[in-house]
This record gives sequence, C-alpha cells and structure tokens, in this order.
Amino acid sequence: MAPARARRARLRFAIVAIFSTAAALAEEAPTLRPAELRCEGLESPPAVDTPQPRLSWLCESGDPEVRGQAQSAYQIIVADSSAGSAADEGNLWDSGKIVSDQSTFIAYAGAALQPHREYFWKVRIWNRDAAASEWSPPAAFSMGFLPPNSWRPDWIRGDGVTYLLRKPFPIKKDVKRAYVYASALGVYELRLNGSKVGDELFAPGWTDYRKRVQYQRYDVTDAVHRGDNVLGAELAPGWFSGKIAWFNAKRYGKQPAFAAELHLEFADGSSRVVSTDGSWETSSGPLTASDMQDGDQYDARLEKIGWDTAGYQGADWENAEVLGGESRIMAAQRDQPVGDVRTLTPVQRTQPAPGVYVYDLGQNITGIARITARGQRDAKITLRYAERLNADGTLDVTNLKLAEATDTYVMRSAGAETYQPKFTFHGFRWVSVEGLDAPPALDEVTGVVVGTLFPETGSLSTSSQELNQLLSNIRWTIRNSYLSVPLDSPQRSERLGWTGDANVMAATASWMFGLDRFYSKWQTDILDAQSYGKGETDGAMPNVAPRWMAKASGRGGGWGDVGVNLPYLLWKRYGDTGVIRASYSGTKKWLAFLERNSKNHIIPVSARVSTAGDWENAGDPTPKDLVGTFYYALDVAQVAEMAEALGEEADAAAYRARFQEIRAAIIKRYVAQDGVVANGSQTAQVFALYLGLYPQGMKDKVFRRLIDNIEKRDNHISTGYLGSQWLLKVLVENGRPDVAYDLLMQRTGPSWLYMASNEQTSLWEGWDTLNPDGTFGSKRTSLGHAALGSCGDWMFQRIGGITPDPLSPGFKHFMIEPLVGGGLTHAEANFQSPHGLIGTRWTLHGDRFTLDVTVPVNTTATVLLPPSSPGAVTESDQPIDLSDHVLSKRLPTGGVSYHVGSGRYSYAASGVSLSGRASRANEPSGRESEDEMDPSGSP
Ligand code: BGC
Repeated sequence: MAPARARRARLRFAIVAIFSTAAALAEEAPTLRPAELRCEGLESPPAVDTPQPRLSWLCESGDPEVRGQAQSAYQIIVADSSAGSAADEGNLWDSGKIVSDQSTFIAYAGAALQPHREYFWKVRIWNRDAAASEWSPPAAFSMGFLPPNSWRPDWIRGDGVTYLLRKPFPIKKDVKRAYVYASALGVYELRLNGSKVGDELFAPGWTDYRKRVQYQRYDVTDAVHRGDNVLGAELAPGWFSGKIAWFNAKRYGKQPAFAAELHLEFADGSSRVVSTDGSWETSSGPLTASDMQDGDQYDARLEKIGWDTAGYQGADWENAEVLGGESRIMAAQRDQPVGDVRTLTPVQRTQPAPGVYVYDLGQNITGIARITARGQRDAKITLRYAERLNADGTLDVTNLKLAEATDTYVMRSAGAETYQPKFTFHGFRWVSVEGLDAPPALDEVTGVVVGTLFPETGSLSTSSQELNQLLSNIRWTIRNSYLSVPLDSPQRSERLGWTGDANVMAATASWMFGLDRFYSKWQTDILDAQSYGKGETDGAMPNVAPRWMAKASGRGGGWGDVGVNLPYLLWKRYGDTGVIRASYSGTKKWLAFLERNSKNHIIPVSARVSTAGDWENAGDPTPKDLVGTFYYALDVAQVAEMAEALGEEADAAAYRARFQEIRAAIIKRYVAQDGVVANGSQTAQVFALYLGLYPQGMKDKVFRRLIDNIEKRDNHISTGYLGSQWLLKVLVENGRPDVAYDLLMQRTGPSWLYMASNEQTSLWEGWDTLNPDGTFGSKRTSLGHAALGSCGDWMFQRIGGITPDPLSPGFKHFMIEPLVGGGLTHAEANFQSPHGLIGTRWTLHGDRFTLDVTVPVNTTATVLLPPSSPGAVTESDQPIDLSDHVLSKRLPTGGVSYHVGSGRYSYAASGVSLSGRASRANEPSGRESEDEMDPSGSP
C-alpha cells in the first residue's frame, strides 16, 4: 500500500484535514434577519395557557450565498402594548444580549404574564462577526386562562342531539377590544351577528372529555358594535355523544353542551363579560341529525332565518339548561385547528343507475362534498361516499362497516342551493348524488379535504414515477388520517387514535408535515389515557388515545410504547425538550409497569399487557412476547437518553443497565446459534439487528438469516406495521442497499409499489387489501390506513439524503448522504427544518454524480459523497480541496465526507461506483461497529 493510502486507512473516520476556518470565514458575513417568529410553535397563538411560553425564530440571511453564517447572540423583548414594542422596549422582559446560537424553544423569563392579555415580542440577532440585525417586526401572542384560576365555565344545553343557542346583548359604549372563549362537549359552530366566528371545524377537537376539554379563543373586535348584538352557537354530537368506533353513540355523554365567555373591553377602560348561563335561548335548527360516522341530515326548510342576528323574533325558543358540578380540565387548544385543507373538482361523472350520479374526485380524501343543486322545494338529496366502486359502477360501501357515511339535504326552494355538511367527515374518492332530476355539473360538486391545518414541510421527488406515486399516497393517507387526533383511518366505523399506527408513522409524517404541535397535543391525550381514573393508575399506556371507554386496555408491543417513542421523536426532530420533560414521569411509570409485568425481563402476553403483534404482516408473524420485549428494550434505551438530556443522571445509568439486562435476556431466550431470532420472521431478525440484540460476533449470521427469509420469498417484504419501519435501514447498514432497493422497487405484492399501482391514490390497511384485479381481499379492509407507509422515513433520509444527526436534536447539525441505487438517476428533497429549508438535489449520468445542497443559516451539515475516482470531486466547479467553506473533512470507507457551514453547495464527482453491494462504502462513519446498540439510530 502506498504510504499515503496506508495513512488514510489508519485514519479512517478521523479528521484528516481541518481546512483553515479563518479562510472559510474570511469573507465578512452579511447581517442576519430573524423571521417566522413563533410562540409555542404557532404564529400569533390566540390562547396560550403555559406561564412561560417558548419562543422560536428562523435566522435568515440577506445573502444566502455567503457560507457559514450563524447566530452568535440574541436579544428578546416582550411588551404588553404594541406601542412599547414599537419603541423597542420590553417592559415585561428584556433578555439582554445573550451569547448563544439557540433560536428555538427559548422560555419566556420576564414578569408574570396575565390571563387574557395580548403581548408583543421582538427579537434581534447577532451574526458570526457580532454585527446585530434590525429588530424583527413584532409578533403577538395572547394568554388564555391561567392556572390556578383556569376556566370553570357554566355549561349550557338545549334539547336533542343538535340544537341552536342564542344570546342577545346590548353594547352601549365604544369597544376597544373583544374576544370570546368557546368550547363544547360535542362540536360547535360559533356565530356572532349573523356570521360564523373563525374557520374552525369540529371545535373544540377530540380529547377524553371526561378529563380534559380544549377551548378556543377568537378575536371578535371587528364583529361587535354599539347597539344590539347576538352571540350564538350551533351544536352537534361530534366525538362526545356521537358514534365512536363500533360502540354506538354516547361514549362520553348523552347530549352536547356549550360554554362561552365574551370579554368586552371598552374605550373608557371598563369591561364586561357575557357568559353562558340560563338566560341563553335554545331551539332546534335545520340540522335534524348528525354523526361523525353516519353523516349530517339537514332540512333547509327548517332554517331559522336571522336567528343569530339582532331583531330576530322567533316563537319556539326556550331557556337553556345550565349544568353544574364540573371538574374537567379546560385547556387552550395547542395545535392548529381542523379546517378546510383544500378542494378538489371531480374528474368524472357517471350514472350507474337511473337517478344515481357518481362523481370521481380522482383522489381518496377525507372530508365531505359541497354541492350546488337545482331542484324543487322538498327535494331530498342524498350524498353517499365510498373508497371503491363495484364492477357496475355503484359505490362499494362494504369496507365502511357500520358507518352510514350518508348526508342528506332537503331543499327549501326551486332555486340553486349550495350545501356543505359541517359536523361530519368521510373517507372517500367517490360521492354519489341521488334525489335530483338533473345531475349537478362537475364543477358543482366539490371534494372538500378536511383535517388539522398543520403546515406542509417536506417533499421528495425521484426519477421513478412509481416511487413518486407511492410518496403521494403516503402523503395523502397521513393528511387524511390526521384530524384532531392521528386516526387509524377515516372511513369505517372505527376512526380511533390507535397508538401503534401513529407510532410507526411519526418519523415519516414529520418529514412531510410540521407535526410538533399536533403530536404534542396527542401526547397529552396519551398521558391522560395512561393515568385515567380509579384502578387505572398502574402506568399502562393505552392502545388508543384519547380513551373512549372506561376500561383501560394497556398494550405494549408498539402500541402503548408510543408514550415513550413519540416524545423521543419530537425531541430529536424538533429539538423540543419540553415534551420529554412533560412526559418524563409518565414514561417512567410505563417502564415500571412493564417491569412489573415481565418475567426475567421478558414480557409475556397477559391480561394486563398484550400486543396486536406485527400487525398486518404478510404471513410471517413474530411471537408476541418477543414483540413486547423488543419494545421494552427500545423504550428503556430511549428513556435512558431522555433522562440524560434532562439531567437525570442516576435514572439514565439505571436504564442503561436495564437495557443490557433485557438485551441479555432476549439473546438467551430468542437468538439461536445459527442466527435465527425466535421463528426467524423478517421482523424478528430486523428487531435484533436494529437494537444489537445478538451475542458478540454473531451479527453477520443474524443478518444472513434476514436475507434468507427475503430470498425465500423471492425478494418480497413480509413485515407488518412494526418491522416495516426499520427493514430498509437495517439492510443498508449491513451492507445490502441492493436488497433494500429491490424491496422498495418490487412490483408484485406484497410490496409498496403493488399497493401504489392500478391507480391507487392512498395506502391500504394490509398488503393484500385489494387483489390484483382490484377486488377486495377477503377482509375488505380500509383503503386509507397510513401504517404500512413507514418506508417514507427511509426514502427522505436515503433517497432524499437528509439524515438527522441523533446527537443534534432539531437539525442543528445533520447529514446529507443520498444512497444512489434502484436504477434511480435523480432525486430532489426539500425539508423545512426548525432552522429553515434543507434542500438536496442529485443526478447520476453514467458514472458522473452531482449533488446540490442547501444548508440553513445557523446549522451545519456533514455531506457524504459516494466513492469516486481520486481527485475527481469538485464543488462549484472548483477542485474540492480549494473550496472555502469546508470546516473539516473525513474519510469513511470509500467515500469522503465534508463538514460544512450554511450555504449552497454544488458537488460533482466522476468515476462513481454505486451498484449493489459496492455502495456499502457509501456509509457514514460510526455505523458499522459490531454489536453497537443504536436505539437512537432513527430519530
Ligand atoms: C386498526 C389498526 C390497529 C389495530 C390494532 C385495527 O382495527 O384499524 O390500525 O392498530 O386494530 O389492534
């Protein structure tokens, strides 16, 4: 070996060249600009109920072309008036100049914040040359009710399962500010002076209403006026008293109820509160029945025109009933509201039977249809929804089980009338319209997509149309199931927050959507379910959250474990340590519960702890005790890490030791000399490889048995919900990216591409939900289940090439390491990280590889290039070693990696060798040490 090469080999993974940072930073940095100010993760949140809200911003640069830009210090000011803020004075908090590069989750540390008040804040930041930015434009946040005097509203109620409420009230002075708090046991639409307040749907959202109810706050300063005003609400059962799963209605209570408080602040400094009480009037309305699963029934002839405006004189109104004795927690909604996400126009209309018009949206969605109809008074229009058509073109509703999924509308006139159901949702691609002589035109039927309004944060596209379709189906299916709670599916009589489903999808979903708020809210539901009620305080985490029936059913093996796995992921992906702190005692109780229910560290299936197992595996089940014990080990490893991050050193050490005990128990019990784990299922082998659960020196054998299983199935996947999330990663890390790509690109079932073929637009519940001829498999399962789409995480990380650094939560530092294979010649990924946009774009022409990378200001990245001919790498058309931005360079086996600061980079390499096993070399350092435990490998 030539001396230089020998030295390189010795220094494998070691930094061999620190390029002059002085040179890299010689250029004067432009000043920075703080942007996208967020309080508790939201833009101008209307109601914050934590005393020390956390503030975040992005660091933008006037010239993103200048590399290596970072924040060196910040200063935050918070004022209680916009005037104070305009004068750059923080009368409540002035942090002073804090030398720090932190720009997310900085806790407010000023004078005590008061309930109901609006606050204004600004931030300025210093660049690496210590030049200060301008102050940011002001951002606002409002406080809601604060402990210890949280809201204890008077709930009021009308007759029946749907009804209207109204409260006329005079205003005699000029109003300076008006805002209203509202909530329901059920779902409400708030009305003020004839208009809907806010754009929310299904407010206040789904929680375990026996324990916690969310409230909303709306600014209505512009909607009230001097003179007579009317505040009103329309109520429907929603999750509170409508059907839940297959258990009929009234799980939380019999009838909906409503609470509101309108705060009026007058110009003269006085104030007044109008709240729900016995003086409110109630009557029935046009909504004659409503259920989330069954649909809305609306009779427009029963509309009470003007009921929510002053001067209305209705006869049949009576006083509302006031309910007392409340002990529920009233909590400000902390995630984005549910609302209309977008609309779709049908692509086709057919008429499979006389008077039955079927509209195809071309996409499976969650929501409802909006329809404009012309008929005559008394005409009853029926809208039905389905995910699939029968051969004769009629709707196939067999997989909806007990959900009626039918909306009806009775017309009030002979003119055109537009109707959109508002207290129900369906999972569907086709909607049928019946009851009209003539069909509405295509553009008179609209598919309204409904869901929680979290932002889109990531996209990935590749040179394979089939993979792009798969990615689209993953995205849509997440979009369709995430509505106040991550549901298993939106269409049939189930629609529950099954914890296992979201657990396996969270890593994928948080590339595509900004889910920190949504998941944090749901983590509260999980913890509420854990500690629910009498006799249920044993620490068992739930299999569904929010809980919907009195009896707890604690489930491990991938389901209840979400209570640990989700905060861990939120910490790694978003850099949020608040959520791990809030979950910490719950996670410890859960581990104690598992320990109590274990025997020699193995979790046997029992009445108290069970698991659905590797759900929907393709004829390759994994013993449930192994599933439960694997998750026990995973949870312990993750809690050890979280304990360390929280400064709980003793706990961390104890859990690390426990992990080793569980690992030893698993090895003893399940790992045979020939490397077969338990029964040798793909998932069992993946579990062992993912967490290093095999004796020293046996890794290759355990891996070989995984490959055997895959080969035996002619290169087909057989993992279910659990094993699927790590299979591709394990294959790549053990040197077989070719097999990972073979499985991903496999066209015959069971496979991802099989599921995405034949014009399918969403993911299925099982690998075999549809037969190759498009008919339902025997179980008639759902066409809108996200849980088998967990390969999306691997696709973003390895095809898109953006890989989180487990040691640097929130993408403060990350890896760029695209893994070329599968015949792909191009891929492009964009991800809005907590620090701004990370972008990659690569192409492969013959043996020439190019890679464009965007690294956000205030972050660093390690870019790993595939092995190429010596000296053949350029950056921005310069030999790479002349590049002025590189902070350091490493030489992992075969490839070269560069640690870089922010900016845009264009790499090119020729003589690239990538095919099959050779691309094992395209692996970063630190990934291949034998027997290494890597519980944090997939943040
Ligand atoms: C749900 C699944 C869930 C499973 C667990 C099913 O009915 O739809 O998604 O995780 O049950 O038992």
